[in-house]
Amino acid sequence: MGRVIAIANQKGGVGKTTTSINLSAALAERGKKVLVIDTDPQGNTTSGFGLDKNELENTIYELMIGECSTEEAIKENVVEGLDGVDIIPSNVNLAAVEIELIDAEQKEYILREAISNVKDNYDFIIIDCPPSLSMLTVNAMTTANTVLVPIQCEYYALEGLSQLVHTVNLVKDRLNPELEMEGVVFTMFDSRTNLSLQVVENVKEHIQENVYKTIIPRNIRLAEAPSYGLPINVYEPKSAGAEAYRLLADEVIDRIFE
Ligand SMILES: Nc1ncnc2c1ncn2[C@@H]1O[C@H](COP(=O)(O)OP(=O)(O)OP(=O)(O)O)[C@@H](O)[C@H]1O
Ligand SMILES: [Mg+2]
Repeated sequence: MGRVIAIANQKGGVGKTTTSINLSAALAERGKKVLVIDTDPQGNTTSGFGLDKNELENTIYELMIGECSTEEAIKENVVEGLDGVDIIPSNVNLAAVEIELIDAEQKEYILREAISNVKDNYDFIIIDCPPSLSMLTVNAMTTANTVLVPIQCEYYALEGLSQLVHTVNLVKDRLNPELEMEGVVFTMFDSRTNLSLQVVENVKEHIQENVYKTIIPRNIRLAEAPSYGLPINVYEPKSAGAEAYRLLADEVIDRIFE
């Protein structure tokens, strides 16, 4: 059975989408079958895989409001030259879903229900969350087995983290008893400054959660790749960014949950 990982942090711009795209592609490179679900109305994961956000007939929005089937929402093998990455895309239409489903029954479980029939087709399902603790993020967390939290190596890195951990615990208590913390992964580490190192040490002192050994460096290739619609391991396979996401994928694969 596949492992469903929600990539969440309500803080904006910390590397959620970059991690969703490149962890997924690195897992596929290791032979895993991966479904990526974009639950952010910004649709950055969708465009990062080279899809035109405005030309999509079916997205997560249509899926969640019951206007298309799961099969219709899934785009298969979106990365040219790399087998095994499917995606349920998103675009700005998703911004209305919270209002539209305000009276829906069991609205915390809509995504979980929607993908239940395809879950077993995948080794990993990676859900990119929006930068908020909204109904969409709650839907991601009820669908997920674990939550992976990217933390940017900068001042205020810890800000909001306790609120996020609290939310994960609330969802676990009330909606999804199986939910676990996958752990935190440091992103945009700059080896030329002491600040990054201080942030890593400071965060480690203050949290109980698992910390992934792999630290994602600040790497210009990682920032460029989305404009070519490619994950880093296809865009620049030998870059430091590609190598880091491979190591992270290996750690994620090796992590065993009881
Ligand atoms: N390791 C990295 N090296 C260099 N640039 C990076 C790295 N990780 C992310 N970026 C850049 O930082 C910006 C924010 O990253 P990203 O979009 O992944 O964050 P996010 O948490 O998904 O943001 P949002 O909260 O808006 O969804 C992007 O421009 C991205 O290209
Ligand atoms: Mg994002």
